Amino acid sequence: ANIRRYKFNVVMKNMTKLCSTKPIVTINGKFPGPTLYAREDDNVIVNLTNNVNYNITIHWHGVKQLRTGWSDGPAYITQCPVQPGGTFVYNFTLTGQRGTLLWHAHISWLRATVHGAIVILPKRGVPYPFPRPHTEKIIVFGEWWNSDVEAVISQSTQSGLPPNISDGHTINGLTGQVPGCKSRGYTLHVETGKKYLLRIINAAVNDELFFKITGHNLTVVEVDATYTKPFDTETLFLGPGQTTNAILTANHPQGNFLMTISPFMDTVVPVNNVTATAILRYKYTRTQSLKSSKIPPVNATSIALGFSDSLRSLNSPDYPTNVPLKVDHSLFFAIGVGVNPCATCINGTKTIADINNVSFVMPTVAMLQAHYFNKSEGVFTDDFPGRPSTPFNYTGGLSNLQTKNGTKVYRLQFNATVQVIIQGTSVIAPESHPTHLHGSNFFVIGKGLGNFDPIKDPKKFNLVDPVERNTVSVPTAGWTAIRFIADNPGVWFFHCHLEVHTSWGLKMAFLVEDGNDSNEKLPPPPSDLPIC
Ligand code: C2O
Repeated sequence: ANIRRYKFNVVMKNMTKLCSTKPIVTINGKFPGPTLYAREDDNVIVNLTNNVNYNITIHWHGVKQLRTGWSDGPAYITQCPVQPGGTFVYNFTLTGQRGTLLWHAHISWLRATVHGAIVILPKRGVPYPFPRPHTEKIIVFGEWWNSDVEAVISQSTQSGLPPNISDGHTINGLTGQVPGCKSRGYTLHVETGKKYLLRIINAAVNDELFFKITGHNLTVVEVDATYTKPFDTETLFLGPGQTTNAILTANHPQGNFLMTISPFMDTVVPVNNVTATAILRYKYTRTQSLKSSKIPPVNATSIALGFSDSLRSLNSPDYPTNVPLKVDHSLFFAIGVGVNPCATCINGTKTIADINNVSFVMPTVAMLQAHYFNKSEGVFTDDFPGRPSTPFNYTGGLSNLQTKNGTKVYRLQFNATVQVIIQGTSVIAPESHPTHLHGSNFFVIGKGLGNFDPIKDPKKFNLVDPVERNTVSVPTAGWTAIRFIADNPGVWFFHCHLEVHTSWGLKMAFLVEDGNDSNEKLPPPPSDLPIC
């Protein structure tokens, strides 16, 4: 294994999109930021220097951080933020991991502009479990606000009103042609007869996205850096934080084909933002004319569900799927968005989000440090409820449930096995939630619409070849069942990866205790760990 060193300088940079220019927070002046390349088992060392007037942290989304929780990155969970002028060295090893992941800022809404790809190649000499592609391309989806993103969320927090939706989307930092603006789009150049591995990343803030290339099917081979049984599809579906590797076969003689993303709108919230486009261009194409076809929302829900139903882990002799068959902790998380009274807010109420009626409040010091030094008193408690206090008809329409604020963790012994039924609710309106776990992958053993049935539904669980992910979409007014092993000591954030829902409190943390062996314990913090 090698050491891969990167320098991340956090700097402001002026960017023009959708006819307007604003300064944005970037890494090394780039949007999207630099790609981190490594191989399985490599050690990655990133020297971060903060040259902007915002506190910042970086999260390596999907990197398991085995016994390196100090480098995980979520602000106030595993570390205090790096303050203006400060530095921090992220140091972690990609043990047993290969595939496509992403890194992003993990404080407030900075990840809107501070994100980039992580490409982990297999160990030298180890082939992909699918035909070798001619070449590989990275495709990163983003979401763009014309106004300052930090102002968007802080205004919302103060007023209690939902934040403004984004003004548009980007593909590799570009919006595509927008009427009235001098803007261009990303162009993917291909040659007839060749195969391309697309490493696709949804780095949007609040939108689950469909992706489609006119006239081409894509073969999905990997999601969230785990291999899948290959399957062909016209449309990909990715929640924020999710990645998909797909093979594109360039099987047209020539031509230009439109590539589009479009948000999955499953709510009553109006959408009027511009969707991004890019172009697939064959070599030797003389014409500028463009073939384009429609993308959902027509049948959006069934396409989104169908896509996740098709995902199965590869489960081959080289890449076996080892789902825990016994469960030590059987949890039920009712998640959703609600309303609480708020005296200082414009309507006297504010939107909140919760898990089991606890709306998570960020502490002002880092929880992992507090835990490690036995100073959690006054910072957090370990009484996070494993089930809702009062069961109700989760998807049966409006319920007016009062939610409490709290900073609570759910405590797990080292190597405990955990099952979580994540039940979407329709307290205000049903919504889909791409839910993300730090520190471990999980297996997606089941999902369904409506209320989870504790008698019938477990009989249908897939314990043979369920897909392994770090982020899963809990369907609108439905549920998803996951299992994982708590084999990584630390404090691990679990949250909806729609940043607006995270801000409203749809988050909690698992505290995984040390094991008995020395290689089952969290080592002491690095000496440069920032203080709050
Ligand atoms: Cu990609 Cu806690 O997030």
